Formats: sequence, C-alpha cells, structure tokens
Amino acid sequence: MTAQTAKTLLLFGATGDLSQRMLLPSLAALSADQLLDPDLHIVGTARTGLSDAEFRNLARAALEKYLPAERRGGMADFLNRLSYVDCDVTTPEGFDDLARVCGGGEDLAIFLSTAPSLFEPTIQGLVDAGLTGHGARISLEKPLGTDLASSRAINDAVARAFPEDRIFRIDHYLGKETVQNLIALRFANLLFEPIWNSNYIEHVQITVAETVGLESRVDFYDGAGALRDMVQNHMLQLLALVAMEPPSHFDASAVRDEKVKVLRALRPIGAGESVTGQYRSGAVNGQIVPGYDEELGRDSDTETFVALKAHVDNWRWRGVPFYLRTGKRLHERVTEIVVQFRCVPHSIFTGAKMTANRLVIGIQPKENISLSLMAKVPGIEQDGMVLRSVPLDIAMPDAFVGTHRRIAYERLLLDLVHGDQTRFVRRDEVEAQWQWVDAIRATWAAEGLAPKTYSAGSWGPSAAIALAERDGVSWHE
Ligand code: BG6
Repeated sequence: MTAQTAKTLLLFGATGDLSQRMLLPSLAALSADQLLDPDLHIVGTARTGLSDAEFRNLARAALEKYLPAERRGGMADFLNRLSYVDCDVTTPEGFDDLARVCGGGEDLAIFLSTAPSLFEPTIQGLVDAGLTGHGARISLEKPLGTDLASSRAINDAVARAFPEDRIFRIDHYLGKETVQNLIALRFANLLFEPIWNSNYIEHVQITVAETVGLESRVDFYDGAGALRDMVQNHMLQLLALVAMEPPSHFDASAVRDEKVKVLRALRPIGAGESVTGQYRSGAVNGQIVPGYDEELGRDSDTETFVALKAHVDNWRWRGVPFYLRTGKRLHERVTEIVVQFRCVPHSIFTGAKMTANRLVIGIQPKENISLSLMAKVPGIEQDGMVLRSVPLDIAMPDAFVGTHRRIAYERLLLDLVHGDQTRFVRRDEVEAQWQWVDAIRATWAAEGLAPKTYSAGSWGPSAAIALAERDGVSWHE
C-alpha cells in the first residue's frame, strides 16, 4: 500500500462526461467536508484548449448541475485548487507542461478517465516525462479491455510503468456506501456467518436492473453488451463480496485475496444456464421509449439483458445457485441482493404454511435491509396457530439520520489520494472475471445464441423467468 498522501491529483479526461458528472462533484464535496488536504492541488488535463479560468468555469457549471445545493459549500476554495494543462497524449509536448505543473511527479495521484485506446500513449508520455516514480500512483476507469487478452495487454502496459501496489483499478460499485455495508453486515455481526453457507442458504439472487437505455453511449455499448458492461465487473464484485470467506483484516491484501478465491471458483456456465435479451419499444415509468434497434438505427446481436445461473465451486457454496440478472430498460431501477434461506427442517405448526427466511439487501435506489421472519398472526385460533411471514426492515437513511448520501467516487478518490487499495480491483481479480466471462461468450458463439426480445418496461425476456422457475425459484420483484 502506498502510504504517502498525494499532494497533486492529475485528472486525464478532465472535461469529459465522467469528470463533470462524478469526479469534480465528488472532489468538491470532499473539499467542502474538509476531507481533502488543504494543499491538494487538482490538475485537469484534456485536449480542449482551456485556460485555468475556463476550466474552473466548466467545473462550477458541473457542480451546479450535478451536486445538490446543500453540498456546494466552499465552492470558491475548491475551484481555487484547480488548474488546467492542455495535453494531447499522443504527442510529447503536453507532458512537459504536466511535469512542471505536477512538481515532477512527487506525491502524485493520476486518474485516467479517457478512452482505453489512450491508456498506452498516456502511460508512455508519463514515463517519458518522469511522472511514474515512487511518489506516483495511477487509477484506471473501466472498461479495462473487452476480453482477457485485451485486459492483459492493458494491465501489462500499466505494469511496465507502475507496480501493482500503485495501480488503482476502479469499480465504482465498491465505493457505494451500501456495498461497503454488505461487508459490515457480514463481518460485524455474529448472526449471519454461522448460517452463511449451503446448509442454510438455498440460493442467492443478484439483480442490477436499470430503466435507462443507451443514453449517449450507442457505439460503446453496442461493442460491449450487458455481460461485459455490468456482469464482468460490478455484478461479479457483488457476488464475490457475498460469497467470500471472512478476511482476516479489512485491508487491501486480505479482502482481495478472499475475493479472488471466489472468482476463481466460479464454475463455467453450462448449457441452459444463461439467457440474453434485447429490448424493443415499450413504456418505462409511463413514457413510451424506442427499442434498442431503433436507438441504434440498425439490427444488432448485442444483449441489453443477461440472466445467469452461476455456481461457486467450493465447500461453502456447494449446490447453491447464484442467479444473476441485469438489463437496460427494465421495469424499475433496482440493485439488490436476495439471500434465500432454507425452510426449517421440521414444522411443529400443523397446517400452517411455512415460508423460509429471506434477507434482501437493497443497494439502490432504496438502501434497505429486510429480513423476513415467520410470526404468529394475532388472534385466538381453534385449529392451531396461524403464521405469516413479516419483514424486519431497516431503512439505512432512517437509521443514520443527518448523514448525506455520498457519491461512490468520493470514497474512491479519497482512497486514491491516501493510497488505500482495499476498494480497488487487483489484477488477478479482473483477469479471473474476464476468464469466466470469456467462456460464457464462447458458449454463446458456439451455440449461435441470439438475444430474445423483451418489451421496454418489463423484467426481461420470459426465458429469464423460466431460468429460475425451472428450479422452483421466483425472481424477487
Ligand atoms: C456503468 C455501466 O459501469 O455502470 C453503465 O457502464 C451503467 O452502463 C452504470 O449504467 C450503472 O451504474 P450505477 O451506479 O448507476 O448503478
């Protein structure tokens, strides 16, 4: 772990969409909460030919658009931290200016939020400018490749300039408060761990449903699809956090060692264990929206939905399916993890219908934890107790009044500045993720699997429902 706190944060792609929507607002919020070192200098770079003043104006506009008004305190102080250097990363000139402004690379945190095709020239430019020394660390945004081979090529290129303990691969789900709470729930409570295994858990569901369509990312998305865009990274990270063994510490090595074991234990998906879909026009939240093919302007085989039945082949999870599904233009925006427990081994309540316990962990938009328990329905019965499943609900925002919802990047940027890799993805994890995903794509190609259509605003193709129902399982909706 790099212990030194960075004095300069260098943002490549500083005028881009991610920077405006997430990075600048997150940094401003951290600055307003006095979580950044007062001396931290933020250098934005891109090819837009801005002056410092123009970059600050762009940042101000971004904060006004994307940061809630109550979090914009101290905006002037934040804007004063910013400067801008123009740099075309395919030529050496701009890097000399960067080196000058970044104090020669001492205590430097670099964030690449540019197209992956620019990673290699950027890294070469940083090397030539002397900005990759011991005092420098680098953070990379997804997509880190489109398969194992291209991901390795990126990882190799970065590794030529930075050792692994100075490489910070982003999966923004790891910065989400509720995802971190999953670790707290599992390992700060005695309650769950003894029953967190195949003796007591029947199956797990992970849903990441979105209502948005292609937005402005038509070309990128059509070359990726739901499996590579969402499953390879966010969903597998969620699965790893649910399934991992207790780490001995909450630190970068211990946590990532446990996650990678899970990722390597994923069984290759078999025939009939995956369903893909592509949306057609329909209504989402009462609005008529066009189909994927209409948004794209042509036919395509890219999946906008995927459902999988996964298995983790180890002692703890033997015989426990993990049902995963994600898609665009689904019925509602919801990310949740459902842990379905088994039924009691014997019921003493003759005639009563027993419902097995279920733990639902809401990641977004609702931050709820709900445990369903059997309870007696009040009343005096003649023929034995009447029972019903009732939820024990914790709404996290209500439990912690006075805290505000943070952007996932706030946590991640702060960790980058402080050099803590716990919430970043290690190379072996990314590669294990790709290996599993590549095998799925190879199966699809071999079977000539084409996505089934589904109406926008639905829960995906009916085959996804059948995937679970064959096992007597219903998706939690
Ligand atoms: C990104 C994907 O990684 O995650 C997008 O590329 C997706 O397609 C997004 O919309 C979802 O993130 P969140 O935080 O809105 O769930």
